[in-house]
Amino acid sequence: MKDMLERLEERRAQARLGGGTKRIEAQHARGKLTARERIELLLDRNSFEEFDMFVEHRSTDFGMDKAKIPGDGVVTGWGTVNGRTVFVFAKDFTVFGGSLSEAHAQKITKIQDMALKMRAPIVGLFDAGGARIQEGVAALGGYGEVFKRNVIASGVIPQISVIMGPCAGGDVYSPAMTDFIFMVRDRSYMFVTGPDVVKTVTNETVTSEELGGAKVHTTKSSVADGAYDNDVEALLQVRRLIDFLPANNMDGVPEIPSFDDPARTDESLDTLIPDNPNKPYDMKELILKVVDEADFFEIQESYAKNIITGFGRVEGRTVGFVANQPMVLAGVLDSDASRKAARFVRFCDAFSIPIVTFEDVPGFLPGTAQEYGGLIKHGAKLLFAYSEATVPLVTVITRKAFGGAYDVMASKHIGGDVNYAWPTAQIAVMGAKGAVEIIFRQDIGDADKIAARTKEYEDRFMSPFVAAERGYIDEVIMPHSTRRRIARALAMLRHKETERPWKKHDNIPL
Ligand code: HXC
Repeated sequence: MKDMLERLEERRAQARLGGGTKRIEAQHARGKLTARERIELLLDRNSFEEFDMFVEHRSTDFGMDKAKIPGDGVVTGWGTVNGRTVFVFAKDFTVFGGSLSEAHAQKITKIQDMALKMRAPIVGLFDAGGARIQEGVAALGGYGEVFKRNVIASGVIPQISVIMGPCAGGDVYSPAMTDFIFMVRDRSYMFVTGPDVVKTVTNETVTSEELGGAKVHTTKSSVADGAYDNDVEALLQVRRLIDFLPANNMDGVPEIPSFDDPARTDESLDTLIPDNPNKPYDMKELILKVVDEADFFEIQESYAKNIITGFGRVEGRTVGFVANQPMVLAGVLDSDASRKAARFVRFCDAFSIPIVTFEDVPGFLPGTAQEYGGLIKHGAKLLFAYSEATVPLVTVITRKAFGGAYDVMASKHIGGDVNYAWPTAQIAVMGAKGAVEIIFRQDIGDADKIAARTKEYEDRFMSPFVAAERGYIDEVIMPHSTRRRIARALAMLRHKETERPWKKHDNIPL
């Protein structure tokens, strides 16, 4: 018996070494942790239960029958994050570059199936070169199995991907179908094909960083939702995100004890809006003053900064925030901002997370660049996402709500449940100057007349009251009471029920 125990310990120790000490040292020398070290950081201490530690690949081509490593390049299992069950797989770059074989794929799909069955989140830690080239179609088939499960689980359990090394092929496409992707700066890359293939096919010379580094994917492509300086920071932030998320689409949002009074008022908000309507202010200040303990987890912070998306809590319960940012492009809605916010709204709706919208938007961005880039279709995504949402929607118009953007940003007409405006709100088809120049075009040469018309237009329309008179705004509220009003609205809306006609699924403009 003792022998057997010793032999088990030996086999375990060998499996834990993955590709061996040399490769582990190389991994550390690149500033990366190993798969197991990453899992240790992600999960609560001693909570990891590993599966399939002894699985090996079954391929024989290219001398692979003599190159078998227990675990086959991926560490899988489950554990807890602050006590809540989370399934996890971590690619082991020290074993065949973390590449995916048929057996490796079966380890991942086992975890995906269990996560779905248990209705618990799944986190993938990626550091891998895609399909195992020696296995050919068996590896491609394996990826197909992973992809299909990504899609079936989408909208049922949260799926999070962390890119922690060079990732190619299937190791970028599987993450692309999950809910959130985070990257590690300067040492993680995502591309369908790497710099060498790019050089051969298009004759472009690019570095990995230029082709698919964290900066590219968080600022240009919007493939990734956030970037962190190192493995430790990335994993700690994933833990923080998980704390905000429901375990699945039926459980409802988690509730954590909050010591922040929901009725807390903040007098400084009464002077947040500058006297000059063209002067910007920081909408993040409002978000931070409204959420519990100023704890806000921003999604896509570096992309389309003219709109802010992220999670906070009110009365200890998760809320999704969408807010125009007057500090960037005056908070205008363009294609990028619309796509970013639409995806966020759909995530919240899928997982029953109420949405609070803070609105200060001068309209959609005009111009050929936007129109040629499909502004109509991308803007429609946000309109569609809000209109189909059945979660509680609370909207606060702080200043401008102009034109189509008024309708889009969770207006009453498309499903806003509680719509507030600050006294500084201006709800109109467009700004006074533009409006007067169109409807009083004949007076354009006469500066006095134009000034008088502009004043008349401002007095009549540049306020929340025309909308409030029609019931489009439920109440004009004091800025200092915003947190209290939102908390009360969300409490009232907690058991909201909405009926929609049966359909297989909608056809959101993609
Ligand atoms: C088998 C692989 C591998 C792979 C890396 N390795 N990728 N083995 N199959 N796909 C091995 C290397 O041979 C090497 O082994 C070790 O892993 C480390 O790799 P290096 O190249 O030394 O590391 P690095 O320079 O950091 O480059 C990492 C990399 C690069 C960028 C990931 O290895 C690379 O480009 N790999 C190929 C990527 C690729 O084209 N994959 C197929 C995609 S197709 P040794 O023993 O020498 O140390 C795909 C289809 C899915 O995934 C379907 C999508 C829709």
